[in-house]
Amino acid sequence: MEIFLDTANIDEIKAILPWGVISGLTTNQKIFSCEKGVNFKERVMEILKLVKGPVSIEVTKTTGTDQELVEEAKEYAGWGSNIVIKIPMWSDGRGLRVASTLRDLGIKTNITCLMSTNQMILATKVGATYASLFFNRIKDSKEDPLRAISESRQIIEESGSATKIIVGSIRKPEDVSEAVVAGAHVMTIPYKILVQMPFHLKTEETIKEFDTAWLEFKKSEKCK
Ligand code: E4P
Repeated sequence: MEIFLDTANIDEIKAILPWGVISGLTTNQKIFSCEKGVNFKERVMEILKLVKGPVSIEVTKTTGTDQELVEEAKEYAGWGSNIVIKIPMWSDGRGLRVASTLRDLGIKTNITCLMSTNQMILATKVGATYASLFFNRIKDSKEDPLRAISESRQIIEESGSATKIIVGSIRKPEDVSEAVVAGAHVMTIPYKILVQMPFHLKTEETIKEFDTAWLEFKKSEKCK
């Protein structure tokens, strides 16, 4: 199981990288909208200097032709060998057509905005490198993300597909463990959730208790 950071913010990346727990990063247009005023390409290049694992960048020419989307993807893919192109699962099959072309060009893909097992089946059949299920957005539509994750994992195992399930749309630390147990290969986690994960009240109390005991021991040691 891997952890990716769901951000385009350099301070967040620099704060988490030294933890040694993240192996990649995901972005989307909404994540970039939090980084007002930055140049898109420059920011991606900054990210690539820091993150050596897969970095997902989403296509934006959503009203364009297949060819325009493929050209956009090729441009981004040229920025670094670890770039992964995020392609939405459009209902008209456009995303699948583009992903299929990118697969033939040897460009890594992350089929995104998935809310169902059926969409995951299509993503595996088109040979997506990654396919992203959106945990809390599935919940928002009154469906069960855990079922979608476990069914997807079962299908991938049984078919021998190489597609990796990324679970995103994480809103609280508990979502992470639930999704991992259900079968996520990768969790993409926002900074504000990841920084809460080392915390447990009992851990804090225990550390304090041990620190106090150590101070007492050191005091007694000096007395002798
Ligand atoms: C995943 O790749 C997405 O960037 C992200 O997790 C989307 O989630 P949200 O928009 O529901 O927060």
